[in-house]
Amino acid sequence: MTYSKKSSVKEIQERFDQDVERFSNLETGQLTTLDAKFNMDLITTAIVKAYPKLATVLDIGCGAGNYDVSLLQQKSPLNMTLVDLSKPMLERAEQRVRVLNTGETKTAQGDFRKMEFAAGQFDVIIATAVLHHLRDDQDWEDAFKKLYNWLKPGGSIWIFDLIQQQNPALQKFVYQELYGDYLIKLKDEAYRDHVFAYIEKEDSPRPLMYQLDMLRKVGFSEVDILHKNLCFASFVGVK
Ligand SMILES: C[S@@+](CC[C@H](N)C(=O)[O-])C[C@H]1O[C@@H](n2cnc3c(N)ncnc32)[C@H](O)[C@@H]1O
Repeated sequence: MTYSKKSSVKEIQERFDQDVERFSNLETGQLTTLDAKFNMDLITTAIVKAYPKLATVLDIGCGAGNYDVSLLQQKSPLNMTLVDLSKPMLERAEQRVRVLNTGETKTAQGDFRKMEFAAGQFDVIIATAVLHHLRDDQDWEDAFKKLYNWLKPGGSIWIFDLIQQQNPALQKFVYQELYGDYLIKLKDEAYRDHVFAYIEKEDSPRPLMYQLDMLRKVGFSEVDILHKNLCFASFVGVK
């Protein structure tokens, strides 16, 4: 697999700079993903239930902050750190989070892979619809190691993302046919083609099993699947 034709970090940032509204709807979540609202409620409610003393949360690729708002509606104050490549996204997220959070809210604009946070400081890391921008195996492993290192012992990472099937025929059926049909029903064929084109240009998703194995490889002791529907899955790794 060659990644040279995929979008650069700068191109990804510029595209998301233009897309703040689509990521700001708490009632629907991001509609191009399957079960968007269901996964958002599932993850944020599971976090609150799993951590009665939840205090520190990092959201990488927070977008306009939907997951953070959903979490804060259930638990505040929290010590929140929001990270995104896109300044307009981050500004929207910060604005929405500050309304609800009576705790500390910090933001950092840039690529999370280049950031340094003190080891062992977060109870929870949220990574939704962002890791599919990782490229080769080394990139995935380095990123997962970094995220593992930032968590407290007993802390956890919560992921919702586009995934691939390992079997090519199954991938074609699940992604092109079934997910394609979903996009046509959502809008029309032109919209399906538009979404498929930007995924092809921008994203390099990996199979669910690859990501679960990678979580284990970098040290996560418990790995669990929360939900899978066609080419989207939510899952968790506990340190
Ligand atoms: C598809 S949006 C998802 C936003 C949010 N997590 C949600 O689920 O609503 C992906 C976001 O990740 C950001 N992003 C992509 N790669 C990133 C990276 N390496 N570091 C930080 N942010 C990144 C983009 O700018 C964009 O806002």
